[in-house]
Amino acid sequence: MSLLVLGSTGTLGRQIVRRALDEGFQVKCFVRNFRKAAFLKEWGAELIYGDLKLPQTIPSTLYGITAIIDASTTRIADFYKADRIDLYSKKILIKAAKLAKIKRYIYFSIFNARNYKNIPLVKLKVQVEEELINSGLNYTVFSLCGFFQGLINQYALPILDQQSVWITKESKSIPYIDTQDIAKFAIRSLSIKATENSLFNLTGKYAWTSSEIIELCEKLSGQKSRTSIIPIFALQFMRKFTKFFQWSWNISERLAFTNMLLEEQSFELSMDKVYSIFHISASDINTLENYLEEYFSRILKKMKELNEQNQGTSYLDTF
Ligand SMILES: NC(=O)c1ccc[n+]([C@@H]2O[C@H](COP(=O)([O-])OP(=O)(O)OC[C@H]3O[C@@H](n4cnc5c(N)ncnc54)[C@H](OP(=O)(O)O)[C@@H]3O)[C@@H](O)[C@H]2O)c1
Repeated sequence: MSLLVLGSTGTLGRQIVRRALDEGFQVKCFVRNFRKAAFLKEWGAELIYGDLKLPQTIPSTLYGITAIIDASTTRIADFYKADRIDLYSKKILIKAAKLAKIKRYIYFSIFNARNYKNIPLVKLKVQVEEELINSGLNYTVFSLCGFFQGLINQYALPILDQQSVWITKESKSIPYIDTQDIAKFAIRSLSIKATENSLFNLTGKYAWTSSEIIELCEKLSGQKSRTSIIPIFALQFMRKFTKFFQWSWNISERLAFTNMLLEEQSFELSMDKVYSIFHISASDINTLENYLEEYFSRILKKMKELNEQNQGTSYLDTF
């Protein structure tokens, strides 16, 4: 089976490519920058040029493809509106997939998306879900919360660097999940008929508050954090302000997610039914404790080695 992975240089996409190659799939990556994607080629994937803001580049990338896994989304630093990538190009991709008789289309949405259609990026997700459902393609949609990998920049690095960790008072518990586990479900779904034309919520085993994550990082790093509380109205003001300028449109769209903090959100944490459909055991799913423990032990070991090297250099330099 030949897979086309969009968003393959991203946090989730690269894990999907890794998993698919490990399981023996032929993987083609839809990329707009070959230099940035060189590591995927080294892993054994084939790179195909495509840019979602240039829809004419889409159809030819589908030649010889059996299934599409779309993990692409607008980058915060890009200078165009999210709907160009997260809606219009997706509609074109879905139409092209139908014409190319693609056997399976896998898409990633946002948990409880239908409850947050007032958030622009979430609304786009719902629109793409609907487009897929009505397309006649065999689709599987995974609705996700937050990724373990995103917590490194948000909490782990500032704590190691003795920088402020910014949190809001209205912090909600979120059942973060490891992108390697999401990749496991996505690839497994290709061989399970019961996952066709279905939507699955994927969550981690436990919903974490910001304070709990900070406490865990402090324990594993041996460092005390410097936590600063940012009032939610300040984020909402920033959102309105950044909406004025083209360069900050995508920042504004991301800040719109603060609306979620103001509303009650309930997560169904029991994944038993999903595990059973995918023949995946709960013990195969990573925990945040385990993920962060591995991260900190790796980085603290590296820091110790660098410290020893630097001490060695300064000692030699004195002669
Ligand atoms: N991150 C989260 O916590 C979260 C939560 C819920 C759902 N999701 C969903 O999960 C999926 C993966 O998210 P992620 O955080 O892994 O994304 P990400 O790290 O931001 O990566 C985005 C990917 O999309 C690609 N892309 C952006 N614009 C493109 C264009 N014009 N043409 C071709 N490719 C383009 C990027 O390529 P370049 O490297 O070239 O920029 C990159 O590979 C998305 O659908 C996202 O909405 C994410």
